[in-house]
Amino acid sequence: MLKKKYVIVGLGSRSDMFSTAILETYKEQCELAALCDTNQGRMDYWNGIFNSKFNTGPFLTYNANEFDEMISKHKPDIVVVTCIDRVHHKYICRAMELGCDVISEKPMTTNEEHCQEIFDAIKKTGKKLVVTFNYRYSPRNTKIKQLIQNGEIGDVISVHFEWMLNTKHGADYFRRWHRDKNNSGGLIVHKSTHHFDLVNWWLNDTPTEVFGMGRLAFYGLENAKNRGITELYHRCYGNEYAKKDPFALNLKDGGKLENIYLKNEKYDGYIRDYSVFSQGISIEDTMSVLVKYKKKTTLTYSLNAFCPCEGYKVTFNGTKGRIEMDINEAPYVSGSAFDQNNPDFNMTDQEKKNLPEKITLQKLWGKPQEISWKKNDGGHGGGDKRLLDDIFLGAGDDPLKTAAGHLDGAKSILVGIAANKSFATGTLIKIDDLFKL
Ligand SMILES: NC(=O)c1ccc[n+]([C@@H]2O[C@H](COP(=O)([O-])OP(=O)(O)OC[C@H]3O[C@@H](n4cnc5c(N)ncnc54)[C@H](O)[C@@H]3O)[C@@H](O)[C@H]2O)c1
Repeated sequence: MLKKKYVIVGLGSRSDMFSTAILETYKEQCELAALCDTNQGRMDYWNGIFNSKFNTGPFLTYNANEFDEMISKHKPDIVVVTCIDRVHHKYICRAMELGCDVISEKPMTTNEEHCQEIFDAIKKTGKKLVVTFNYRYSPRNTKIKQLIQNGEIGDVISVHFEWMLNTKHGADYFRRWHRDKNNSGGLIVHKSTHHFDLVNWWLNDTPTEVFGMGRLAFYGLENAKNRGITELYHRCYGNEYAKKDPFALNLKDGGKLENIYLKNEKYDGYIRDYSVFSQGISIEDTMSVLVKYKKKTTLTYSLNAFCPCEGYKVTFNGTKGRIEMDINEAPYVSGSAFDQNNPDFNMTDQEKKNLPEKITLQKLWGKPQEISWKKNDGGHGGGDKRLLDDIFLGAGDDPLKTAAGHLDGAKSILVGIAANKSFATGTLIKIDDLFKL
């Protein structure tokens, strides 16, 4: 069998899932050819890991401005884009122009202009883009898709969706590049792209109108001062106040965070552990959004990034009944706190497994019925593993249309992009005025 050749752009934390898949899980089908990043130290770190774990490499490394050279030298079939969101579109478009298909992490991009560039590149080159919406693959979310697709609650008239990020995971977006809206589009694009994609997919519908309100209400210097916090500081590393701050991340952990970030600051000045109560945050931590769909379904959605718990609650009201979904999740962030007893950072694997998850179906005039589903281990509710099978082995029979492409990538970010405009203007935004889907 001819192996597919991959290169990876952006060698931070998330790249690990893809490199391990290529070098280990799917090594019969795949080969890794080269690495590209703005930070030489991070590429060297991973080369060391690949060598010790998989006995491979070192792979040739390329600076971001040598991307074209990398492609022309290695001629990969597929470029995996796992760099910061702000530049996803650059690599997606250029890779296609140079003859490659692309797998991109979410969000596909962060604004409508870059979204248009991606669509133009696809039209011009005929190349394929996969956007990695791993949450679709989580068995409980697949169950919801099946229930709705099977007509269990008839036509869905309204959806109410609340997502909670906790003080470990939610805080993490305020410690690094995501805190600058130019880099991430804010959480309403960066994070909510997962959630809006789920709703789009569950409903098999297209969002048309968006109204939203969002603000930075908890994190940030001003909010901390207003709550009377006086022990304020810039970054955690080397700071005495940080050692008492339950929000602080300990980069000097002798492990992954130290090796990926702290030791490589000298190359690009990337700070991974800003205080969440320091200056320079331009994203929201509190967002409420109202969305209308083509088939007239309405969605009320909220995202809060400083909750004591992590998870989501969704209810669907249909012409034949109602579904309620109540999911507690283990926060997805590596690293440790300064206080070894910090409960956010100390969840055992058993505790994670025992987190309550419930789906209830109640038909009109019927009794509530608890729905069961087969659970998977692994990241993002067991979604990561199934996503990787689809990406690296092929989607096969896919009656639920779980595999996502550029249209899905666009539909989900456009809700967030429109919400950002609504936050800024206080008006209702029509998606059609931003982008022709
Ligand atoms: N699907 C998911 O659930 C999930 C989970 C985590 C992260 N992600 C996505 O993965 C991507 C990476 O996130 P991360 O947590 O690994 O971030 P990270 O900060 O750990 O890594 C980002 C990497 O991009 C590199 N980079 C910055 N500018 C670049 C440029 N111009 N060219 C090339 N490389 C550049 C950085 O040096 C760094 O190595 C993001 O888009 C994020 O949304 C998705």
